[in-house]
Amino acid sequence: MEKKRILVNSSAGSYVIVCGAGVLENAASEIRKLGSFSGVHLVSSPKVWRVAGKKVLKHLSTKAKAPVKMHLMNDAESAKNLNTAEKLCRSLVRSGIDRHSLIIAVGGGVVGDVAGFVASACLRGVALVQIPTTLIAQVDSAVGGKTGVNLPEGKNLVGTFYPARLVLVDSTVLRTLPDRQYRGGLAEVIKYGVIADTELFAWLEKNFDAVLRRDPAMLSRIIARSLEIKARVVSRDERESGLREILNFGHTFGHALETITNYRVYQHGEAVAWGMMTAALLGHELRLTPADEVSRIVSLVRRLSPLPPWPKVPPKKLIALMHSDKKARAGKLRFVLAPRIGKAHSHDDVPADILERVLHFAPHFINPETPQPKGNRHV
Ligand code: GLY
Repeated sequence: MEKKRILVNSSAGSYVIVCGAGVLENAASEIRKLGSFSGVHLVSSPKVWRVAGKKVLKHLSTKAKAPVKMHLMNDAESAKNLNTAEKLCRSLVRSGIDRHSLIIAVGGGVVGDVAGFVASACLRGVALVQIPTTLIAQVDSAVGGKTGVNLPEGKNLVGTFYPARLVLVDSTVLRTLPDRQYRGGLAEVIKYGVIADTELFAWLEKNFDAVLRRDPAMLSRIIARSLEIKARVVSRDERESGLREILNFGHTFGHALETITNYRVYQHGEAVAWGMMTAALLGHELRLTPADEVSRIVSLVRRLSPLPPWPKVPPKKLIALMHSDKKARAGKLRFVLAPRIGKAHSHDDVPADILERVLHFAPHFINPETPQPKGNRHV
């Protein structure tokens, strides 16, 4: 597949996502188009750098005039916190970063979000390029300018909107991605189908086995389509005052699952997978999502299995956590629900009893082998 250039508008000006197989080979020339920098600071994790470092350096160093410094950070979700951000800032300052430097984040969602946050705050803002190396970062987190770190109270509760100047998405780096992470990324791809693209959803239903086998042509296709949707949404509503909320389909539930397990049990995409199935059931309970659409969503998401099981916690605890989610407004929880596949809206009027009931039966509905708790209704 040929390389694609997708334009994203942001309050800081527009920027380009270059995606396709092999785009890293042109990394140096793409970065040169941004102007000149006094120094380049690469931020990555030891794991990612072991696998992709040589390749990235080879394509960056060609004709690069600015000195390149390296900063490695822990990329576990449980390390996505202010402590890691502070360590990274200190490392950058000690190595001489200035306001004309460039930070290049090479890694998955945690590296991208933390490096982005640090780029926005260190010296009050340093230019940023994102080179995402996991599927979830490629189709979601590296685009749209959201940066941040978690607090024990909730996910991404400290952060900024700080768009990258350039995003380079090379599908060939996914060849070595562990299967679990790959499947987690596919959860976000399914999300784009549910919220915005009936055809993508139907195509995934038909081709999911080949997608799971990482057929290169299919991979390039789903990445490009996901990025087109994300770019369209964030270009219209960068600050999430309306439309962008649809990107949070499955996330109100997903973030609560991640938080309650101290960010140690689920990869983000796995939590979103559970969250999407639960949101589909909630939509049905509210007489919004027809049963056959729920069934299609649940069936496709289940093909991502195995997922870590739903945590053994009372629904009330999950609901309490949802109240400290960024999406809550004036004490009201917000859920993205899908009246049909390809369409989604945010709702803040979900009755507490319905929510609690859905949280009771959702995990059991999704895992039919698990006995249903007494007294819970089935959809
Ligand atoms: N991942 C949701 C968003 O970028 O808004």
